[in-house]
Amino acid sequence: MKKLLLLSATVLGLAGCQCGEPQLATSSVKKVLKAMTLEEKARLVIGMGMPDSNGNSAAVGATQDIVPGAAGTTYAIPRLGIPSIVLADGPAGLRINPTRPGDDQTYYCTHFPIGTLLASTWNQKLVENVGFAMGEEVHEYGADVYLAPALNIHRHPLNGRNFEYYSEDPVVAGKTAAAYVRGVQRNDVGTSVKHFAFNNQETNRTANNAIISPRAQREIYLKGFEITVKEAAPWTIMSSYNKLNGTYTSQRKDLLTTVLRDEWGFQGLVMTDWFGGDNAAEQIAAGNDMLQPGTALQYEQIMGALKDGSLSEKELDVCVTRCLELIKRSPKVKAYPYNNKPNLEAHAAVTRQSALEGMVLLENKGVLPLKDVKKVAVFGCTSFDFIAGGTGSGNVNRAYTVSLLDGLKNAGFQVDESKKDAYLKHIADEEAAFRAAQGENYSPFYPVPRPSELVPNLFELAASALKNDIAIITFGRNSGEFFDRTSADFSLSESEKKLLGGVTKAFHALGKKVVVVLNVGGVVETASWKNIPDAVLLAWQAGQEGGNSVTDILTGVESPSGKLPMTFPVNLMDAGSSANFPIDTDTGVYFTNRREDVGQKDVDYTRYEEGIYVGYRWFDKKDMAVSYPFGYGLSYTTFAYSEPSVVNDGNTVTATVTVTNTGSVAGKEAVQLYVSAPESNLDKPVKELKAYGKTEKLRPGESEILTLTFPSGELASFDEEKSAWVVDAGTYTFLFGASSRDIRCSVQADAAASEVPAHRVLLME
Ligand code: BGC
Repeated sequence: MKKLLLLSATVLGLAGCQCGEPQLATSSVKKVLKAMTLEEKARLVIGMGMPDSNGNSAAVGATQDIVPGAAGTTYAIPRLGIPSIVLADGPAGLRINPTRPGDDQTYYCTHFPIGTLLASTWNQKLVENVGFAMGEEVHEYGADVYLAPALNIHRHPLNGRNFEYYSEDPVVAGKTAAAYVRGVQRNDVGTSVKHFAFNNQETNRTANNAIISPRAQREIYLKGFEITVKEAAPWTIMSSYNKLNGTYTSQRKDLLTTVLRDEWGFQGLVMTDWFGGDNAAEQIAAGNDMLQPGTALQYEQIMGALKDGSLSEKELDVCVTRCLELIKRSPKVKAYPYNNKPNLEAHAAVTRQSALEGMVLLENKGVLPLKDVKKVAVFGCTSFDFIAGGTGSGNVNRAYTVSLLDGLKNAGFQVDESKKDAYLKHIADEEAAFRAAQGENYSPFYPVPRPSELVPNLFELAASALKNDIAIITFGRNSGEFFDRTSADFSLSESEKKLLGGVTKAFHALGKKVVVVLNVGGVVETASWKNIPDAVLLAWQAGQEGGNSVTDILTGVESPSGKLPMTFPVNLMDAGSSANFPIDTDTGVYFTNRREDVGQKDVDYTRYEEGIYVGYRWFDKKDMAVSYPFGYGLSYTTFAYSEPSVVNDGNTVTATVTVTNTGSVAGKEAVQLYVSAPESNLDKPVKELKAYGKTEKLRPGESEILTLTFPSGELASFDEEKSAWVVDAGTYTFLFGASSRDIRCSVQADAAASEVPAHRVLLME
């Protein structure tokens, strides 16, 4: 009780209140700043540190004060009513400890679908609603800033954190992130949009130098952040670990001040990623307002630089002011009485329902939705052990994960469980063996490889086919920060291939069907096997209700309406970025330890030689066959597009198209608006996505006129010579697509020439 009173007194900023001192809750930031000592200022811009289980600082970990398990806290100055505010991960839900010593209550959070699944919905309203539900947990568990969303571009299929990110396309990434931020911040808590920027690989992530042309930066890697900042005004942004063109992003004034603030008008605070960068004084001078989680060395660096004049107090004050502004708007300073009881039941329904819209039906030879099916045989370890989401700081401590097995049973199917115990034992044994083999290097933040598949013998398979109406096989992939995926992880393993071959042969022999469910966080190889089963459902990692959501799609509770936010290439090496990505390169550098720069390609530096040709822009330019194109996804119904129109009034491009459900069940359709530019001095992609939208659920025969808009200035490309966004005068073609390779209709409209200058910054050395 005593502890509680003390805590609320501190929270209110009253504990050290001295009469006459300005108080942050009631005084202006200016007054509070004036009352601060230099030492207090230097302390405020760095966090409170973060102990690991041995008392040392840990890269991903958990503070133990206020909200145990949160990633960071800020420095409190009670005499000025400045409380410590709490920063906690995201992005698939709040990451805090689920239990607390000596406390019977649990603090589980909802594991929502991963970022990639949310982007696959192509439904900004839905994403905003999911964000709103996440924000309620942030608010009611006493956190102030949610370290999410994460929107780095899917530059390469093997980035270990792609599951947290959205898309290979900056418009999809930016619009999804903006909707997410709006939803979360409706709860009066902050977001931290991360990782700003060019953080596209995990290998040597804290020292890698990304070498990128200004055009590719502006058009591809910064565009999503620009959209989010302009459309959703996030409270904070998290700078990234890596360098850009030779300098840490967290130490680049041209990125954090010139572009972010002067060009885009960002008003919030920038914090580092945990232990990011190598010079605290340079970070402050660059406008990286807060260093997290904070170290003693950073304090010394700042005080030293102030003393020797390399950092001015004025520069420090800019960052301190932004820290004060952030804290002033936090729930903590308002002493919000959080109840530690967010509505987990309602959020379970939100995650179950939202996951339905992001699952992508890749193949369907008439088998889905399931009809006349009672008895189901499930195969694949992952069917019994569904993956809610990825690992690392993107993990969520949830109360449960619904497996496919349980999802099917919940829906009333008779599921053959005879192998369940054997599967669960096999999974546990392989996990234990992996942990043991890792020895001291093992960390619970690391992804555990998926177990090898158990392949039943021919006799068992034949018996299963005889007993059951259908077979479902789940293949799983998991990944998380610190590691990129490997080429082996991209392809089906030998045991997976054997399982697929064996099950389909046995079931097809009796005229029965086989469905494959992909419970994965990133792109996998599909071209070589996708025609073997009768249907393939890309379920992504769908959060804690995954098994229920998959079952809802399989049974047709909803028609699938998810579409791919990235391309599925035929071969891994087809991707433009494969020539410059650390494929299968283990450097022994994890967490925050840094190795000496030995100039190793794709490890110490990575040249983004493909420039703006990322994802479909590359495959279109090369006119290359893909396994599934960007924007692709099947439905249980069909849609016709008609009456396309486009008006460009010089300010806004307004496009409309009528979408009609021409099939026999209700469904939603995501429509993509691409633009092809006229002849130009600049090299132009074949087409680029500029806007997208999704219909409401249309009944058979029902139509909706979808209106898609974007600023006319977005027709521009970035001209490096002029350092300007340039729209060429001429006739543009507007393509309405069901996918990037399924253009249904097009219209032409003219644009006048325009030029918007940008600072000549972020240059290559
Ligand atoms: C991750 C961030 C995360 C932070 C705090 C870092 O390792 O890169 O995304 O927010 O840890 O947990």
